[in-house]
Amino acid sequence: MLRAVICVSGGGTNLQAVLDAIDNGRITNAEIIAVISNNAGAKALDRAEKHGIQGILMSPKNYGDRDAFNRAFTEKMCELNPDLIVLAGFLVKIPEEMVARFSNRIINIHPALIPSFCGVGYYGLKVHEKVLERGVKVTGATVHFVNEGMDEGPIIAQKAVEVQEGDTPEVLQKRVMEQAEWILLPAAIDDIANGRIKVAGDKVVRVSST
Ligand code: GAR
Repeated sequence: MLRAVICVSGGGTNLQAVLDAIDNGRITNAEIIAVISNNAGAKALDRAEKHGIQGILMSPKNYGDRDAFNRAFTEKMCELNPDLIVLAGFLVKIPEEMVARFSNRIINIHPALIPSFCGVGYYGLKVHEKVLERGVKVTGATVHFVNEGMDEGPIIAQKAVEVQEGDTPEVLQKRVMEQAEWILLPAAIDDIANGRIKVAGDKVVRVSST
């Protein structure tokens, strides 16, 4: 059984999609052992609590400096020792030491088709604002492994979503979540939990079942 920790900063709708997928069997062979949030008011911590999952507050604001936070965050993760760390709308940069310690065991959901609309400054609603500003007709979401770069690790899965005339960032965000994110993230966790994918160099490949 794959033991996963989910890190969340805000509403936690992706966390909810994962919890629902475990409950209804779309994810098998996996359990969520903890939810970490950097935001005490995050609805995500309530969602975790309702599911009887340990919620942990881990905010840079509660530490003297970033190094102290990075050390404490990495130590906490090592203590939990998950098989997989899932960044589900987690807006804190993962410390390099954690990336090294959990190599190919951290995944992230990003609300655009990487390598478009990603990197520094591209998070949450801002991504959809930039998509609309640029006038692209297709956007989507990406699940990828996390490396030391920003949104640069091996891509696990992507799904395209149409931009429609008259979209606001909020309307587009909702469509991308419903049509892409809430499907891709649970599917990726299920694939990892059941050994269907692996990282080969800088790419993700499907493991053949023969
Ligand atoms: C999601 O759209 C996720 O893709 C995005 O934040 C939102 C969190 O929503 N993540 C990023 O922008 C990371 N670069 P949620 O808390 O309701 O799941």
